Amino acid sequence: MTTEHSRRHNTDMARVFVTRKLPGPALRRLSDRYDTFIWPDATPPTAAELHQHAADAEALLSLVTDRIDADVIAAAPKLKVIANYAVGYDNIDVAAAEARGIAIGNTADALTEAVADLAFALLMASARHLQSAADNARAGEWRNWEPGAFLGADIYGATIGIIGIGRIGQAVARRATGFGMEVLTAERGNRHDFEHLLRNADFVSIHCPLTADTYHLIGTAELALMKPSAVLINTARGGIVDQVALAAALSEGRLAGAALDVTEPEPLPLDDPLWQAPHLLIVPHIGSATHTTRRQMAEMAVDNVIAGLEGQPLPYAIASDSGHAA
Ligand code: DGY
Repeated sequence: MTTEHSRRHNTDMARVFVTRKLPGPALRRLSDRYDTFIWPDATPPTAAELHQHAADAEALLSLVTDRIDADVIAAAPKLKVIANYAVGYDNIDVAAAEARGIAIGNTADALTEAVADLAFALLMASARHLQSAADNARAGEWRNWEPGAFLGADIYGATIGIIGIGRIGQAVARRATGFGMEVLTAERGNRHDFEHLLRNADFVSIHCPLTADTYHLIGTAELALMKPSAVLINTARGGIVDQVALAAALSEGRLAGAALDVTEPEPLPLDDPLWQAPHLLIVPHIGSATHTTRRQMAEMAVDNVIAGLEGQPLPYAIASDSGHAA
């Protein structure tokens, strides 16, 4: 591993830019083979730093926080492969990369169950007011066993609407079935089924990719269709929900609650009005954050880098027909 200051260029070795340190040993496989620069800071490289370090790279191992747009791609004339450390790749200008013949990989599959677990954890935490109940107990407010306090929604027997029934959506559906829930889904583009789902679900969980078509898919009109007792869960991408509309729906009691693992932007600035909305649980994009999952994602991203540099097909290439997967 090299640092910014100690970086040595070995002209015989392919240069790899890894935009953050990753859990587990996987990156050693890159440092052993290539002239590898691993961004040493906890904060991501700025756009200028990304440009600068991508400029001489043949491979880029990027995170969801790195915007690999057409400018970055144009600034990296030697780039052969972009290995995204995520299943979603809405941070990459796929058309610009493909036009240059640059291979793109992601880490689909590794994180399916972990993200589904988190979606379910958020669902249950919202239904049973875990955040406010725990805050209350810790603040010394737990004086009696109170028959009317923290009454939540039943999960058993409730209806969940799953928007986006890919790998993660299906994994959530399996969990929901185990909890005795009824599962509603909607085919992509079928507005009738989509509105049926919104009208009838007690919990709506988002698992579709962020694309031009799904940007603000859940806005004022869609929130108005939902039951006032319903809860919205988003573990996909912040941009799928119109947060101004969400804050208004929560504040006006038109929606019982929401739980977000993703926001727009990330991190959500502390002065964002969304923080003031009631019955809202926000966690900092931790869907895939388990020891095993994050290590496995690193192994997959490294496998993609190696294959791309060796001129092999990527073992975990993005699915070219699915747009930007979430
Ligand atoms: C993904 O993989 O797309 C997640 O959002 C990041 O873990």
